[in-house]
Amino acid sequence: MRALLAGSARLYLLLASVCRGLSSGSQELRYPPQRIAVIGAGIGGTSAAYFLRQKFGKDVLIDVFERGTVGGRLATINLEGKDYEAGGAVIHPLNLHMKHFVKELGLSVPKGQGGLMGIYNGDEFVFEESSWYIWNFIKLLWRYGLNSLRMYMWVEEILDKFMRIYRYQAHDYAFSSSEGLLHALGGAEFLQMLNQTIEESMQKSGFSQKFINEIVTPVMRVNYGQSASINGFVGAVSLAGTDGGLWAVEGGNKLVCTGLLYASKAQLISGTVISIEEKIQQKGRSGGTVNLYEVTYNSTSGLARDAYNIILIATPLNRKIANITFRNFNPPIPDFSNPYQQTVATFVHGHINASFFGYQDPSQFQLNGIFTMENPKLFINSMGTVSPVQDRTAALNPLLGPRVWKIFSPQPLTKEQMNLLFLSYDSTKAKTWLAYPHYSPPEKCPPIILHSRMYYLNSIEWVASAMEMSTVSAKNAALLAYHRWYEKMDMIDQEDLHERLKTEL
Ligand SMILES: Cc1cc2nc3c(=O)[nH]c(=O)nc-3n(C[C@H](O)[C@H](O)[C@H](O)COP(=O)(O)OP(=O)(O)OC[C@H]3O[C@@H](n4cnc5c(N)ncnc54)[C@H](O)[C@@H]3O)c2cc1C
Ligand SMILES: *[C@@H]1O[C@H](CO)[C@@H](O)[C@H](O)[C@H]1NC(C)=O
Ligand SMILES: *[C@@H]1O[C@H](CO)[C@@H](O)[C@H](O)[C@H]1NC(C)=O
Ligand SMILES: *[C@@H]1O[C@H](CO)[C@@H](O)[C@H](O)[C@H]1NC(C)=O
Ligand SMILES: *[C@@H]1O[C@H](CO)[C@@H](O)[C@H](O)[C@H]1NC(C)=O
Repeated sequence: MRALLAGSARLYLLLASVCRGLSSGSQELRYPPQRIAVIGAGIGGTSAAYFLRQKFGKDVLIDVFERGTVGGRLATINLEGKDYEAGGAVIHPLNLHMKHFVKELGLSVPKGQGGLMGIYNGDEFVFEESSWYIWNFIKLLWRYGLNSLRMYMWVEEILDKFMRIYRYQAHDYAFSSSEGLLHALGGAEFLQMLNQTIEESMQKSGFSQKFINEIVTPVMRVNYGQSASINGFVGAVSLAGTDGGLWAVEGGNKLVCTGLLYASKAQLISGTVISIEEKIQQKGRSGGTVNLYEVTYNSTSGLARDAYNIILIATPLNRKIANITFRNFNPPIPDFSNPYQQTVATFVHGHINASFFGYQDPSQFQLNGIFTMENPKLFINSMGTVSPVQDRTAALNPLLGPRVWKIFSPQPLTKEQMNLLFLSYDSTKAKTWLAYPHYSPPEKCPPIILHSRMYYLNSIEWVASAMEMSTVSAKNAALLAYHRWYEKMDMIDQEDLHERLKTEL
C-alpha cells in the first residue's frame, strides 16, 4: 500500500512539474523527458538503457524493470561448481555493438578453440571432420562440390549489407519498423528473405538439396531448434554462425548486461510489470495535454505504480513470457502473442555412448560436436562439449574420459533417453527456454512503435533472434524515441541512406 501511494505521489509530482514547464500544446516536446522506463534487463533492455543515456543525457531518470535476473536469455547454469552458458552462447566477430561493449566495459574475451564436428542422420554420421584441415576440405569438396565455398560467399554478401546498420546508427538514423530497417540494409531482396524459407532462398541461389539437408538444416537445428523452413534472413544469420572466430565473454555473456546497466546509471527495479496504462492529463488553463504511461508492477513490497514519459519494452510480448496488459489505449494495442519455440538445454557430465551414434569401435570417437539432420526418430537437435565460462579452453581436454556435454532438444530428456546417450553420467541439469520465435514465413514483424512514445524492441526477433540483433534494435529504439520526442523527423525512415552516406565519408 505504501509503495502504491508513493507511486501515485510521484505521478502527481511528475505531472505537476511537467505542467509547470509548459505553455502551449506542442512546445512540451522541447523539454527533455524526465522519466523513461525500460521493461526487461536482457541484452536488449540493458543496451537500450545505455543508448538512452547517451542520447538523452545525464538528467533523465531511467528505470529498468526486471522480473528475473539481469541478463535474461544470457544466463549461466552451475554444474559441479562450474558455470556454463545456458542461453545465448557465441558471438560473431563482426557483431560490432557487442564488441564495443566488452571493450568499453573492460571485459575479456579469451580465444575459444573449435573441436571436431560430425553430422548424424539418425543412423550414422554422413560427415565427420578430422583434425587434418586439408582432408576436411577435400571431403567437403568431394561430397558437396562447391556448395560450401559458395555458402561462405553467399553469407558474406548478406553480412556485408547488414553491416551498413553500423554506419546508419553512427549517423543517428532510425527506422520506425523492423521491415523498414531491413529494407534500408538490403532493399527488396532482404524483405523477400522474410517471405521465404532459407531452403527456398538457397534453392533459388542454386544450392543442392543434399547440401541443404546435410549442412544447412543441422545448423538451423543447433541455432534455432527448427528446420530449414525458418525465414531466409534468420537462416542466413544462423549460417554466419558457422564462421570461424566466434567468441564469448570470460565469466559469462551476461556480464555485458550487468556492465551496461551500471554504465547507464539506470535504476534497476526488481519486479514484474503487469500493466501499462495511458494517462492523459489536462495541463490547466492552456488546454494542452500531457501524455504519461503508468506502469503497474508487482515487487516484493506489493503492487506499485510509476509514471513515465517514454517506455521501451525489451521482452517478447508473448503471454507465456511477459504477460503485460495494455489498459485504456484507444485504439487498443493489439495482441502480439506470437509463438516462441521451446528448447531445452541439458548439461551432463558423463561418458558419451558412441555406439548409440553408430560407432562400431567407440574408442575411435573423437567428436566435440554432433549436429543432426531432420529425422523423426531423433530426440535431440545437437550435442557438444562445453567449457566453463571461467575457462573457455577446457572443452577439448581431456579428450577421453568424462566431459561436460550440452544437449539441445525440443523436449526434456527422459531417463531412458539419457541412458541411450551416455554410458554413465554423474550429474545433470537442464534449463527449459522459450528460446526464440517459432518462425514460419512469410514473416510479419510486430510494430516497433506501439503507441506515440512506447516502443517494442523485440519486434526485431522476427527478423532474427540473436544478441547483436537485440542491441541493434535497442540503439534504433533509443534513436527513434529521441527523434520523435524532439520532432526530428528527418532522422527517421530516410531513403537511400547507403548512397547518401557514401559521399559523406
Ligand atoms: C538456448 C539459447 C541459445 C542461444 N544462442 C545464441 C547464440 O549463440 N548467439 C546469439 O547471438 N544469440 C543466441 N540466442 C538468442 C539470444 O540469447 C537472444 O536473442 C537475446 O538474448 C535476447 O535478448 P533480449 O534482451 O531481447 O530478451 P531477454 O534476454 O529475454 O530479456 C527479456 C527480459 O525481460 C524480463 N521480463 C519479461 N517479462 C517481464 C515483466 N513483465 N516485467 C519485468 N521483466 C520482465 C525477463 O525476465 C528477461 O530478463 C540463444 C537463445 C537461447 C534461448
Ligand atoms: C511478403 O508477403 C506479404 C504478405 O504475406 C506481402 O504483403 C509483402 O508485399 C511481401 N513482400 C515482398 C518483398 O515480397
Ligand atoms: C504479486 O506477487 C505476489 C507474491 O510474489 C503474488 O502472490 C501475487 O499474486 C502477485 N500479484 C499479481 C497481480 O501478479
Ligand atoms: C495474463 O494476465 C491476465 C490478466 O492479468 C490473466 O487473466 C491471464 O490468465 C494471464 N495469462 C497467462 C498466460 O499467464
Ligand atoms: C548405448 O547405445 C546402444 C546402441 O543404441 C544401446 O543398445 C545401449 O543400450 C546404449 N547404452 C549403453 C549404456 O550402452
